[in-house]
Amino acid sequence: MPAALPLRLGVNIDHVATIRNARGGRHPDPVRAAMLAIEAGADGITAHLREDRRHITDDDIARLKAGLTKPLNLEMAATDEMVGIAVRTRPHAACLVPERRAERTTEGGLDVAGQRAELKPRIARLREAGIRVSLFIAPEPIQIEAAVALGAPVIEIHTGAWCHALLDGDKAAAEREWQRIRTGATLARGLGLEVHAGHGLDYASAELISALPEIFELNIGHFLIGEAVFTGLAQTVQAMRAAMDRGRARLAG
Ligand code: PXP
Repeated sequence: MPAALPLRLGVNIDHVATIRNARGGRHPDPVRAAMLAIEAGADGITAHLREDRRHITDDDIARLKAGLTKPLNLEMAATDEMVGIAVRTRPHAACLVPERRAERTTEGGLDVAGQRAELKPRIARLREAGIRVSLFIAPEPIQIEAAVALGAPVIEIHTGAWCHALLDGDKAAAEREWQRIRTGATLARGLGLEVHAGHGLDYASAELISALPEIFELNIGHFLIGEAVFTGLAQTVQAMRAAMDRGRARLAG
């Protein structure tokens, strides 16, 4: 059997911060989650510093950068503010994503072809800072070719439409989206790009897409954090029960 091609797992910890921010305190800490994910086998950590700071904060990014033993992939809008933060922080990679409607294609990826003029200097600035630039795009030839033209070494294929179709049981749409992903991944590899994929992946869709040899990295967040509730809740409730029992036992002593 030929040696397996590498396939990296980037764990997105944004939604640990979403839960923390629901209370405004420090718990649960996304940096602690990142450490745990690395211990468990993640190859890198992904965090999206949004313009409105709705989950990950600037302080989280600084702590991740300072404490991580594996690469940090900073997801960000292609704005001057975010490029400035990235250049100061120097994550391993920066994945440019759309945050506003005007920045995205109908499929939800970054409209690289439509925004060449705005993106070009920002991609160049990130690259000059030694940051590996990735563009989160729909698997459309026009977007892939624009990514190459702008000098991005990596694209991340938006898998959201495919994952939705799979979950909806819409076989025709799932097949159509799958073919688009396959064709896009082949085209991108042929043009020399490193190909990542992400958005909406769960165990089933991750297993399917892992069979595409062109894909080098998957970035997965929401499903993992949601699923961790179920795999971790029983243990946490038991620990709480034990703490309460220890406290009650003091009454007897
Ligand atoms: N990749 C990119 C570029 C993203 O913006 C996100 C978050 O939306 C993900 C991967 C992870 O997606 P999910 O949280 O649905 O797994």
